[in-house]
Amino acid sequence: MTGTALPTDLTLGIDKLDEQHAGYFHLVEKVEAAAMSQEPCHVVQETLDVLIDYIDEHFSTEKAMMVETDYPELKPHQQEHVYFVRRIMDISEDLRDGDCPVKNGMLEFMKDWFTNHILTTDTRLVAYLKSR
Ligand SMILES: [Fe+2]
Ligand SMILES: [Fe+2]
Repeated sequence: MTGTALPTDLTLGIDKLDEQHAGYFHLVEKVEAAAMSQEPCHVVQETLDVLIDYIDEHFSTEKAMMVETDYPELKPHQQEHVYFVRRIMDISEDLRDGDCPVKNGMLEFMKDWFTNHILTTDTRLVAYLKSR
């Protein structure tokens, strides 16, 4: 997926993960654009659901890498993923229930959580993968 360059400080050096992280931010921008426009609520939710599928795919990619390499921090890393997916699903449900426009702070949460996860948890995973 193209369209949004990943800032240098978030580039970890494993192409597949860097591309997926960039893809995530690209889709967040789409959600943001839908949320800021006069689009009906269901359009915002549809863009968010595309993002949810994408997150799922990305987390599956990381899980496969962790399983394949016997990563010792697999469980806590997975728990962070599970927490995040739950939060995003909650937001999607709120939208479905008509809680629209998008809640204040939702987009900030989506950007901040993911950025922080890349800078800490994913960074440790990539260091491990590179050290092998
Ligand atoms: Fe990641
Ligand atoms: Fe991760």
